[in-house]
Amino acid sequence: MLAGLFDLARPLVLSLDAERAHNLTVKALASGLHPRCAAPDDPLLARRLFDLDFPNPLGMAAGFDKNGEVPDALLALGFGFAEIGTVTPRPQPGNPRPRLFRLPADNAVINRFGFNNDGHARVLSRLERRRGRPGVVGVNVGANKDSADRVFDYVTGIAVFAHVASYFTINVSSPNTPGLRDLQARDALAELLTAALVARDEAAARIGRRVPVFLKIAPDLDDGHLEEIVDEATARGIDGMVVSNTTIARDGLTDGTTAREAGGLSGRPLFRRSTRMLARVRRQVGQDMPLIGVGGVDSPESAFAKIAAGADLVQIYTGLVFGGLGLVDAIKRHLARRARAEGMATIAEAVGTNVAAWADSNP
Ligand SMILES: Cc1cc2nc3c(=O)[nH]c(=O)nc-3n(C[C@H](O)[C@H](O)[C@H](O)COP(=O)(O)O)c2cc1C
Repeated sequence: MLAGLFDLARPLVLSLDAERAHNLTVKALASGLHPRCAAPDDPLLARRLFDLDFPNPLGMAAGFDKNGEVPDALLALGFGFAEIGTVTPRPQPGNPRPRLFRLPADNAVINRFGFNNDGHARVLSRLERRRGRPGVVGVNVGANKDSADRVFDYVTGIAVFAHVASYFTINVSSPNTPGLRDLQARDALAELLTAALVARDEAAARIGRRVPVFLKIAPDLDDGHLEEIVDEATARGIDGMVVSNTTIARDGLTDGTTAREAGGLSGRPLFRRSTRMLARVRRQVGQDMPLIGVGGVDSPESAFAKIAAGADLVQIYTGLVFGGLGLVDAIKRHLARRARAEGMATIAEAVGTNVAAWADSNP
């Protein structure tokens, strides 16, 4: 009933300026004005990765809850996990508005927020208030726009949030902070990951838990550069990868005027590009490294395709803007039904079942 009401409000929310609509949604979630997921997840959907129990593999992607205001509301809605952030050491306003654009004809969004967020201290106090509650909540860390030492910003994020983060994502792939993606260059990445993993190990000695660290990459890397990054990341001992962030490409969009806005494109037009990249990463790292597949999931079928292309876990954001929250349940039901129909005892058996076709598909 409440879920229905929430979806009834969607046309109204969609008619608002995109950023106001987003803020309104977060406010509604924060005030408890949201449907609760009544049905427990099908046990076939559960995954245990590292020491983390995911009741299902579908998570809310970074950028929706940048400030850690609503992770528990997201979990209550039925997400198997929530990733908050990107968070930077100092608060920053981000780019001038407008900075979020819908492309309804393409089921896509362009954003150039530029890491608007409340900064470490305020986000930390929110996460400390929810300490001890169940559920997987990852923290996505980044660097301030005017930082003099970006590596230090990431290292500080890991040190500050280690006791409240289920996992970390190192975000070097946002297109909206000038120079940030230069950290994907091999030498820069080696330095960053070495420092970040030392910070994680130091925190582990303090808190008694080794928090897994993921690296989130851009979908705009060519195949050679991708291979180099995966090589470097595995050599440094990264625990997992998130593939991928938004793209600066503008292939095949019908909405020509809005398509010219600067920023990262997400949603349906990102699906092929990010899924191909995910499959190439899976082929390179082998079966064991946990991968989070994200980019353009907007239906039950596309969520299953991500898993088949190599994702242990799947994240979604833009698909919800157009498809509504009902999509969370629909995706989970489909994943369970499909796995069962194929005789699988757990959704884990579906991971990577279609890697070759995706990895060798045309870019
Ligand atoms: C409005 C918006 C803001 C985002 N902010 C962040 C962010 O702060 N950090 C990050 O790592 N990714 C951010 N993302 C990227 C998403 O986490 C995701 O990687 C991307 O949107 C592709 O998934 P989707 O097609 O399901 O939206 C943002 C995406 C959108 C649409």
